[in-house]
Amino acid sequence: MSSRSAAEPAPPEADTATHAAGGLGAGVDDPIVCFCNEICLSAIVTALDAGASTLTEIIDATFAGCGACGGSCQPDLEAILEDWYSDEGLPDGP
Ligand code: FES
Repeated sequence: MSSRSAAEPAPPEADTATHAAGGLGAGVDDPIVCFCNEICLSAIVTALDAGASTLTEIIDATFAGCGACGGSCQPDLEAILEDWYSDEGLPDGP
């Protein structure tokens, strides 16, 4: 019998593996980018689509990057930001 309560969410094992490998989207439709605040890639993309163009604007819009760990996901957020505004962009980018 599990000691986990029904209200407690399951740990994101698959997303953790994707995060650790830096492989956003690798086999996971909507990977978690910020584990502290449980912010998924789709939320980041929504913020970018709404006009966020800096790390601070992404943080303000999503609360990603400002969790208890001190922002260890911020490099990932910056990489997503760079990809979004690169010539190729993310699949849903401009
Ligand atoms: S993982 Fe995003 S702030 Fe900790």
